[in-house]
Amino acid sequence: MKKLEMVYEGKAKKVFKTDDQELFIVDYKDDATAFNGLKKGTITGKGVINNKLSNHIMKLIEKEGIPTHFVEELSDRETLVKKVSIVPLEVIVRNIAAGSFSKHYGVEEGKVFKEPVVEFSYKNDALGDPLLNTRHALALEIASREEIDTIIDYALRINEIMKSFWKECNITLVDFKIEFGRTSDGTIILADEISPDTCRLWDSTTGEKLDKDRFRRDLGGVEEAYAEVMKRVLSHD
Ligand code: TMP
Repeated sequence: MKKLEMVYEGKAKKVFKTDDQELFIVDYKDDATAFNGLKKGTITGKGVINNKLSNHIMKLIEKEGIPTHFVEELSDRETLVKKVSIVPLEVIVRNIAAGSFSKHYGVEEGKVFKEPVVEFSYKNDALGDPLLNTRHALALEIASREEIDTIIDYALRINEIMKSFWKECNITLVDFKIEFGRTSDGTIILADEISPDTCRLWDSTTGEKLDKDRFRRDLGGVEEAYAEVMKRVLSHD
């Protein structure tokens, strides 16, 4: 597979064309940002860990019958994926109150929900990724009703798959963000990444944060947390 010109550079990844029209290569960087790019830094080794972790989880999800963009891991930092056009929704699933939920609704971090919350943000950096509901998304013609139903169904099923996977690693899945894309024939598939950048992961015994909140909140031990998550996933197999 030939890596051709870069089509997109995001905050944490670069995306390249290939000699196959339907396939892209993603290349994971060590760059980290928070607060819509206001805070910038580097998490050494993050690109390798996120590439491998995301692929591991995508394979699990695919095995459970949810289509994903994953095709093949090419190197430590590079993965071959299906080309999609991203649906501009950040789909967030929450099992426990934390982060912006706690802030918006005045709920203490750590409150366990009876039912998971599914939340959408409009993926638009210029607007600061505002929260929106299904009817906003329909009005803005971001996705059809049928696509939104599929996305919510997939998001809740991915939550169940991931909750039990992380539990086996003695990690509690607090919340996570996922993104979906449309393939050239219009099929909705899981895209982007699933990693400690995009999930809140708490050690089930100690409650210690093992995710990007260590970077966002200047808690220290950022690289160590990512390495610990990787170690637990590798020893889980
Ligand atoms: P929040 O509580 O800040 O809204 O974050 C919810 C989840 O989404 C959390 O697991 C972190 C993840 N997330 C991203 O992946 N990208 C983002 O830009 C933000 C704000 C959150």
